[in-house]
Amino acid sequence: MKKPALERPVLLDVQDITRLYGPGKGCEEIDFRLHAGEVLGIVGESGSGKSTLLRVLSGLEAPDAGRVIYRRLSNEPEAARQVNEPEAARQVNEPEAARQVNEPEAARSGQHVVDDDEATSDFDLDLYAIGEARRRALLRLEWGLVHQNPRDGLRMGVSAGANIGERLMAQGQRHYGRLRETGQEWMRQVELDPGRIDDAPRTFSGGMQQRLQIARTLVTRPRLVFMDEPTGGLDVSVQARLLDMLRTLVRQLGLSVVLVTHDLAVARLLAHRLLVMRRGRVVETGLTDQILDDPQHAYTQLLVSSVLTP
Ligand SMILES: Nc1ncnc2c1ncn2[C@@H]1O[C@H](COP(=O)(O)OP(=O)(O)OP(=O)(O)O)[C@@H](O)[C@H]1O
Ligand SMILES: [Mg+2]
Repeated sequence: MKKPALERPVLLDVQDITRLYGPGKGCEEIDFRLHAGEVLGIVGESGSGKSTLLRVLSGLEAPDAGRVIYRRLSNEPEAARQVNEPEAARQVNEPEAARQVNEPEAARSGQHVVDDDEATSDFDLDLYAIGEARRRALLRLEWGLVHQNPRDGLRMGVSAGANIGERLMAQGQRHYGRLRETGQEWMRQVELDPGRIDDAPRTFSGGMQQRLQIARTLVTRPRLVFMDEPTGGLDVSVQARLLDMLRTLVRQLGLSVVLVTHDLAVARLLAHRLLVMRRGRVVETGLTDQILDDPQHAYTQLLVSSVLTP
């Protein structure tokens, strides 16, 4: 878990991303690479631009400048390749963030959902140069996003089982019994009572909703997962269990993760490497232990010491 994955191939190449709402508000000239199997933590105080950056990286918000390149390997299994989405699956509503798309035939019909003329090479995808439909397909089929607020990542009115099954259906799974079985397996996996598979998430506690959102996201085995404060807003004891669970899942599934958190304990536990942000800019980057044990930048020093002082 702690072993850096820098020798692995680059999965996400983030080139000079800027997205500003005002001076110092947003993110500015962010440049880094995420390697396969790596967990990269983005830390910094409230308002430093973490969520803005994550929205840009995860395809939700176009940057003012810069590029996000998703590097695919020629020999890797490709979720998008198996897809052949019939009408029914496309009409299933997705949560707010992924709702707008009305996918054209090309994006649904098969082979190269995300292998695109406008990409920089056969296997590189420029996230904002490809069309919106393809970006959405990518998000649904190969990426996953865990929102800070589970309400943004779940459909609160439909059952827990439907929430988990939905992304599987988008990948082409149709067998009701099997979807249900997988739903229950995943509920167990995230320590939810599988007996509640027919209950709507709105009847769940915050911590349970967050675990359901994680199950919904990971059930499709995404190659790349973005998480925004996955343990934020939860009780400390609930947080600890959730973190433990996340850590296990990340390791078991070999996930590549970009994790936003203002909580350095979370970063310590999950991330191989950290980017420290302040007022929209990266002020320090390095291996997690190095940064937390021996911070170089004055701001990071302050951040680290403020955690130690109650
Ligand atoms: N849609 C928006 N319109 C205008 N300003 C925004 C928007 N989104 C974020 N901002 C501003 O950009 C800055 C960075 O916000 P962002 O949400 O990215 O910070 P953050 O690091 O995620 O903070 P937190 O830890 O509180 O979640 C803040 O000053 C915020 O008010
Ligand atoms: Mg945020």
